[in-house]
Amino acid sequence: MTPDITTAPMTLADLEAVIGIEASAFEQPWTAHSFRTELMKNDLAYYLVAKVGDRIAGYGGIWVIINEAHLTTLAVDRAYRRLGVASAMLQALIEKAFTMGARRITLEVRPSNSAARRLYEKFGFTARGVRKNYYIDEDGLVMYRSIRNFCRENNNDPAS
Ligand SMILES: CC(C)(COP(=O)(O)OP(=O)(O)OC[C@H]1O[C@@H](n2cnc3c(N)ncnc32)[C@H](O)[C@@H]1OP(=O)(O)O)[C@@H](O)C(=O)NCCC(=O)NCCS
Repeated sequence: MTPDITTAPMTLADLEAVIGIEASAFEQPWTAHSFRTELMKNDLAYYLVAKVGDRIAGYGGIWVIINEAHLTTLAVDRAYRRLGVASAMLQALIEKAFTMGARRITLEVRPSNSAARRLYEKFGFTARGVRKNYYIDEDGLVMYRSIRNFCRENNNDPAS
């Protein structure tokens, strides 16, 4: 059965759960301090959490600089993967990016991260190049998609 997934802006009260997921999802995890700084001091940033029931199942964030959004992070608790949690967050983040003025969105992903690459491809992102030594042990694959058709198509589906 598909769980009931909701998204909400990340708050400081979410940080303990977020840091727990972060530590198990990434080899070089962000610290609580990094997230706190993003939430409290970065006016260009927007972060959200996804909940299944009242459990935090994942989180993600963007920076929006003029008309371009950059996906800064996205992760799902291992116990809640393959249930559509990342998809729900990506949809919400793209919608938020659009309302903040972005008309395209970019991200970096490890070429070896096939799960994330499949997710982004499903959302219409295409590979646009490589950022050398972006990660400590791997280049970063730069992916991009336009979101400028979001309003014109008026179907609330920025993935179209
Ligand atoms: C990548 C990640 C965010 C996906 O989260 P998720 O909630 O499981 O993703 P969803 O359930 O929304 O999956 C949507 C689609 O992505 C693709 N996908 C997701 N996980 C996949 C996997 N393990 N293998 C292959 N495809 C996968 C599929 O196309 C999937 O659609 P389907 O289930 O209908 O086949 C999650 O695996 C994760 O947190 N990984 C560790 C952190 C990370 O790599 N973040 C991305 C950094 S760039």
